[in-house]
Amino acid sequence: MTQTTPNHTQTVSGWAAHDTSAKITPYTFKRRENGVTDVTIKILYCGICHTDLHHAKDDWGITMYPVVPGHEITGVITKVGSDVKGFKEGDRVGVGCLAASCLDCEYCKTDQENYCDNLQFVYNGIFWDGSITYGGYSEMLVADYRYVVHIPESLPMDAVAPLLCAGITVFSPLKDHDLVSSPGKKIGVVGLGGLGHMAVKFGKAFGHHVTVISTSPSKEAEAKERLGADDFLLSSNPDQLQAAKRSLDFILDTVSADHALMPILELLKVNGTLFMVGAPDKPLQLPAFPLIFGKRSIKGGIIGGIKETQEMLEVCGKHNITCDIELIKPDTINEAFVRLAKNDVRYRFVIDIAGTSKI
Ligand SMILES: NC(=O)c1ccc[n+]([C@@H]2O[C@H](COP(=O)([O-])OP(=O)(O)OC[C@H]3O[C@@H](n4cnc5c(N)ncnc54)[C@H](OP(=O)(O)O)[C@@H]3O)[C@@H](O)[C@H]2O)c1
Ligand SMILES: [Zn+2]
Ligand SMILES: [Zn+2]
Repeated sequence: MTQTTPNHTQTVSGWAAHDTSAKITPYTFKRRENGVTDVTIKILYCGICHTDLHHAKDDWGITMYPVVPGHEITGVITKVGSDVKGFKEGDRVGVGCLAASCLDCEYCKTDQENYCDNLQFVYNGIFWDGSITYGGYSEMLVADYRYVVHIPESLPMDAVAPLLCAGITVFSPLKDHDLVSSPGKKIGVVGLGGLGHMAVKFGKAFGHHVTVISTSPSKEAEAKERLGADDFLLSSNPDQLQAAKRSLDFILDTVSADHALMPILELLKVNGTLFMVGAPDKPLQLPAFPLIFGKRSIKGGIIGGIKETQEMLEVCGKHNITCDIELIKPDTINEAFVRLAKNDVRYRFVIDIAGTSKI
């Protein structure tokens, strides 16, 4: 495995973490030439997902340093390979977590390439040519067109960027559980961060009663007034949790750190489902009793497929759904990491990579 291959001739400026201190510094590296199935993208914006922080700190023990994070990428196509279909120069596009998959397995063939066993991510992955992938904290990206989506004209490129990960990660389980077009269910969202706030927005747009379960009292007013949540439970308040037992059909857990599952499972009705998308570094304790006494299920999922991501973007265009963002310059990524770790962001940092916004 090499970091660069012979056709990696394009010099790109970006920002990388080099060790577990997670300190981000400017970093120059090479990307491949634009191949026949590739598009080259001038990156405009990139969201800061908590996964970027997990990788920068090597929380999961899989980081290949230097790591150029970033998988919530929006930009404009500047070059198109000869075999590319459906994209042209000047198109407004997005790239999320996926860089490559086998294209041939049962999951790739049914638009679930996010579950391909040979899935490779847009950063900290190994591309088909053996090179390590570098993400969106950089000025330019070369991407295979099969992992690129169109951004609806009506949506702004900065506040759309986090949809490419945070958005699709919560949209996909809602769709899977028939919650996009069947309104009137009672949904819970645990953790009101980047993923969580999108889950609240989708839940409301799709006609559900949405309860936020949070550790942060300061988020109650915002959750209700700004995001439209119907109820707010403080996870440190046993009386509130007790009163809400057996009230929810479906819960999305977006928490990035260790937390108790027992009280969350007990919020579900009989037959309810807890869907995990948060990825704490250590295993969570799974109590059997709330499962067996309530015939409840617990499952998880990773992002969504490309076709589904495009579908989500069209839905967002139709309902005018975007993320609540704090726009930052690349030279303040370290400050943003510190604030993200302290749970101090409303609700997603987005980096103005190209410097096109007034900040
Ligand atoms: N499955 C996937 O495909 C996928 C995709 C993207 C991200 N992820 C993972 O999902 C998680 C969330 O990502 P994010 O970008 O939304 O992060 P985020 O913006 O930091 O939000 C996480 C939220 O979890 C809550 N929280 C944080 N620490 C907690 C603790 N110790 N106990 C209980 N609650 C706590 C906070 O909400 P309150 O203040 O409301 O409590 C926080 O806002 C990360 O682990 C990330 O790696 C998974
Ligand atoms: Zn992410
Ligand atoms: Zn596959």
